[in-house]
Amino acid sequence: EKAGFDHFMLKEIYEQPKAYRDTMGSRIDATGKKVVLNEIGMTPEQIKAIRNVHIVACGTAYHAGLVGKSVIESLARIPVETDVASEYRYRSPIITPQTLVIVVSQSGETADTLAALREAKRNGARVLAITNVVGSSVAREADDVIVTWAGPEIAVASTKAYTSQLIAFYLFGLYLAQTLGTKDEAYIADVVSALQELPAKVEHILAQSETIKGVAEQVSTHNNLFFIGRGLDYHVVMEGSLKLKEISYIHSEAYAAGELKHGTLALIEEGIPVIALATQGDLFEKTVSNIKEVKARGAHVFGIHEEGEAELAKVVDQVFAIPATLPLLTPALSVVPLQLLSYYASLARGNDVDKPRNLAKSVTVE
Ligand code: F6R
Repeated sequence: EKAGFDHFMLKEIYEQPKAYRDTMGSRIDATGKKVVLNEIGMTPEQIKAIRNVHIVACGTAYHAGLVGKSVIESLARIPVETDVASEYRYRSPIITPQTLVIVVSQSGETADTLAALREAKRNGARVLAITNVVGSSVAREADDVIVTWAGPEIAVASTKAYTSQLIAFYLFGLYLAQTLGTKDEAYIADVVSALQELPAKVEHILAQSETIKGVAEQVSTHNNLFFIGRGLDYHVVMEGSLKLKEISYIHSEAYAAGELKHGTLALIEEGIPVIALATQGDLFEKTVSNIKEVKARGAHVFGIHEEGEAELAKVVDQVFAIPATLPLLTPALSVVPLQLLSYYASLARGNDVDKPRNLAKSVTVE
């Protein structure tokens, strides 16, 4: 049932191109220029009445929600807050009938996420669920559901569910933009066409997994490391760091690259690995200057950049290129080398990759 792969996690990483295609599926119209979300019951009037969006989830799904915030704010210009479900309920969030609450859950059974959904409904908000399980508790109780068609995810560490959640956010963000008129048709058509190119680009990254394996083997000999990035890259490294901790048991921290000098830089010492994501063109120079700060303190930097960007190789120790895409879409590509990195680091350490210690696939207690 692992279809020739050694672990479910690796199989699921390799299933991502299919998961992207299936999640986009019939949600892109035949002309390939716009998004059709027949499953959304909200009328255009209801969509126009949305004043703010709350995205609520746990763990990896929360990290997808951080990207979701940027996607919705950039495409639809609606203010978005993203919260961890176990915090959301206890901070008296300001939920009104004009709030759209989006809950994100692979399993659809996470106790805190379900409780947040109920709290949102009690306060009169409309709830949209992004879930991988048709008929799950979250799917049944939400007003609208976007199913991620990633297929069953068996490995405890989430991979294809996360990236399918990103695809769901791109589709929903475009749908809002179409309805609200915040982006013109040509812009939307460009994003849709770039979305459709993602699966082949993921395949291109997967074909270079040996390079990542080499880096993972070096990383696996360390007990501490840092991930840095800015903007969307920061949200992706948060996911990369969680994945590495979860299955390799190596301590790592993800930092917004510009925050390092406000404390964390004190931890950088000779030889410490730093994984730097620098895919966002408008932030590139800023990230490079943060990379120089850690290099000057002896860090060994592994940089990930977009193809065609020659600069990074000059300042870091090793580089890995991902295919170029629109800045907003890079998370759907840049997370893939980080997934492979944690997989191979866990493998090098002889861990039980698919069933990490102390963790369960579905967390149904608060
Ligand atoms: C990490 C991981 C967890 C889940 C979290 C939420 O790899 O899998 O962080 O993302 O427990 O689970 P769902 O999405 O089922 O609500």
